[in-house]
Amino acid sequence: MTTAVGSYAVEPLDAQTASDADLNALAGFGQAMDAERMPEDPPTPLPLRVRRLRNRPPTMEPRRWVVREDSLVIASAALVRWTNLTNPDWRELAIEVRADRRRRGIARTLLATAAGVCGDGIVLSFDTSDRVPAGAGFAKRIGAKAGLEARISETRLAELDRAMVAEWARIDPAGYRLVWIDDDIPGELLENVLVAYNAMNTAPKGALTFGEETATAEMVRGWERMRHRNGGLQRIALAVHEATGETAGYTEVARHPDTPWIVGQHGTAVIPAHRGRGIGKWLKARMIERIVAEWPDAERIRTGNAYVNAPMLSINDRLGFRVTFSATVWEIAIARVRDYLAG
Ligand SMILES: CC(C)(COP(=O)(O)OP(=O)(O)OC[C@H]1O[C@@H](n2cnc3c(N)ncnc32)[C@H](O)[C@@H]1OP(=O)(O)O)[C@@H](O)C(=O)NCCC(=O)NCCS
Repeated sequence: MTTAVGSYAVEPLDAQTASDADLNALAGFGQAMDAERMPEDPPTPLPLRVRRLRNRPPTMEPRRWVVREDSLVIASAALVRWTNLTNPDWRELAIEVRADRRRRGIARTLLATAAGVCGDGIVLSFDTSDRVPAGAGFAKRIGAKAGLEARISETRLAELDRAMVAEWARIDPAGYRLVWIDDDIPGELLENVLVAYNAMNTAPKGALTFGEETATAEMVRGWERMRHRNGGLQRIALAVHEATGETAGYTEVARHPDTPWIVGQHGTAVIPAHRGRGIGKWLKARMIERIVAEWPDAERIRTGNAYVNAPMLSINDRLGFRVTFSATVWEIAIARVRDYLAG
């Protein structure tokens, strides 16, 4: 159903069934929004954005709406339920409005549209960047609460302290072996990887209420299928405790050949029983050495961490990660959203 916003119309858009033209328009809007938030990045090519919109993770249940002026998308909203969270009432929301169309009530109308499909008890969560202060202005105005402060940081591979990385890479903690997983996870390692992924639940989550993020074999296989369809690459370094075969820790990175300049540092976790032996430093350093050798055209590694995650920040800072921007993750109960909309 299309609803009117002053002279604008809010239209639902389902990326699974949308036309190429509609997805290209949405991808072009995404490019413009990224150029505002991360002007130092070359644009992510439109065909890759379209592929990513079509091939979503199997754990993602999105609803989307767009506002257009002729064929130009000027605003969008995505409301996502992640099926792997233990809090079934938690929803991720992303509302974006082109910089030159702000302060006209468009976000308010998109928020009303998204709230209209939410039952009572739903909690909405969204991120804002300190590079776009309008996001925090909006969040405060609607009555959202800051749940977690995070930093996005990058290390430039050309400026790495190679000697330190080499030293960490040689930590080789006694009683542990490092296993590389370069593509699909072999069946015999799947259980180890699930333990590793689920250890991310020990990372600080501030006041956020999404619960735990549980990975299952079926989900992991679904993520692999998505990665193949999108053409992305992934490397996992898994630390295994030799005596028991248990997972001690892992680190994971991803890169896409169409955005070769950037490597995404995803999860890193050391299982509590195996902490204090240098496994985190060892895994990260071995991964960086591998990135440098295998992807010489990569310029930077980018990662996101909660400001309160002292152990991870201590490793990352020594690896040369410098903050590029800070993000706030907000939460707001649907009842509060309705109060704002009624006001
Ligand atoms: C945040 C954003 C979506 C707001 O879009 P918008 O169309 O300008 O917002 P609206 O005009 O509908 O404003 C909604 C309310 O927020 C308030 N608001 C919006 N921007 C604000 C700002 N920069 N400072 C203070 N209040 C602000 C408005 O005054 C309005 O309040 P009102 O209902 O009392 O009039 C837009 O700035 C944006 O795209 N930012 C980048 C993406 C982002 O951070 N999104 C976070 C939300 S998920």
